[in-house]
Amino acid sequence: MLTAYEIIRKKRDGNHLSKEEIEFFVNGYTSGRIPDYQVSSLLMAIFFSSLGDEELLYLTQAMMSTGVVVDLSDIPGCKADKHSTGGVGDKISLMLAPLAAACGVKVPMVSGRGLGHTGGTVDKLESIPGFRTRMSIDEYKKILGRVGLVMSAQSDDLVPADRKLYALRDVTATVESIPLIASSIMSKKLAEGIDALVLDIKVGSGAFMKRSADARTLAKKMVKVGKLYGKKVAAYITDMNQPLGSEVGNWNEVVESIKVLRGECKACDLIELTVGLTSEMVSLCSGEALPAAVKRVKKALVSGAGYEKFIEMVRAQGGDVTVVENPGKYRKPRIVKEVKAPGSGYVTSIDTYRVGMASVKLGGGRLKVDDLVDPVVGVTFLKKISDKVWRGDILALVHANTAESAGAAEEEITSAYKFSDRKPPEIGLIKERIT
Ligand code: URA
Repeated sequence: MLTAYEIIRKKRDGNHLSKEEIEFFVNGYTSGRIPDYQVSSLLMAIFFSSLGDEELLYLTQAMMSTGVVVDLSDIPGCKADKHSTGGVGDKISLMLAPLAAACGVKVPMVSGRGLGHTGGTVDKLESIPGFRTRMSIDEYKKILGRVGLVMSAQSDDLVPADRKLYALRDVTATVESIPLIASSIMSKKLAEGIDALVLDIKVGSGAFMKRSADARTLAKKMVKVGKLYGKKVAAYITDMNQPLGSEVGNWNEVVESIKVLRGECKACDLIELTVGLTSEMVSLCSGEALPAAVKRVKKALVSGAGYEKFIEMVRAQGGDVTVVENPGKYRKPRIVKEVKAPGSGYVTSIDTYRVGMASVKLGGGRLKVDDLVDPVVGVTFLKKISDKVWRGDILALVHANTAESAGAAEEEITSAYKFSDRKPPEIGLIKERIT
């Protein structure tokens, strides 16, 4: 007979767990038979002893099997999704999903809400008045079949084990464990019924992975798990040492994405990463070489086909298309505060964790699970790494609804910036591609 005590002890001593032992723990926790304190101990043992490749596979499989595995086989075409490990200003999904759909890929995208200092696609989408991210599986499939993309929140019956485990990791300091992150993400992605997956592994001060070596290990493990399940997978390791694009917040990130899709925004870091990741999805699905896929994605961007798909998706999911077409109609924050440079020099770094926390303190993210997010607050970045600034120049604009939160965000942003007399080398956004 298996016991939780002996399994914890085995992992504590650095031994490998069997498939049965891992299933015993995952099923026992999900059904409420194994208490939080024993699962917390196992999580901490995994944090220190890690998991071998086979154990990671068993854990992913056991987690996935606690819920429904969506069957999309009645929808013709290749289905692909993208997943980011979480960043600040990361609005790529809002542009990538409609662009991939405009290139013929079926995109059933299941996204998360903001987590810690990082933002979430679901919170951004829900800033569009009327937009629904929860729907029945029937409606989800109908929209996917008709529009070519659907963007939803995770339903309660998709990997319930992850919901419980994630909440426990969050309060037991075990989030930043490579096998726990890999199994959490891959169990959810494999349950979506997709054929192909592109992973965006963030590394830097605003990411969960701070070191490139860890990001690489995580990427390789996730690619391996995906391939063992017969999926086509590619991963990018990308920089998260400064916010992505110019906007951080919910509605303001939607607006920035709309501008990119309409060809009105020239923020090249956003376009470079969106085109890169979307092209990988197109190439994995169509089998065409990457340069040909890049050409098609750029064409979908320039022609406005991606924007049209975005509008079609918003309409299908109940969102108010008139505000998307005319973002100026949206309600405004009460306060816009300028954050000024305390000295002169080149911007050498921006502590992106602090930027994320500034957004949370403004109300754009959550300090407690049941907090409501404020869609209009956020930060616009006018100066980024390598830019020359003079004392008193405006570094950023804080959009707030209370004087207290505006002051707290201003403090975070001011201390996030570091300056030097010497211009730092450019930091490449896409650091590595792993297939
Ligand atoms: N995103 C997830 O879904 N799970 C993790 O563990 C980390 C990021």
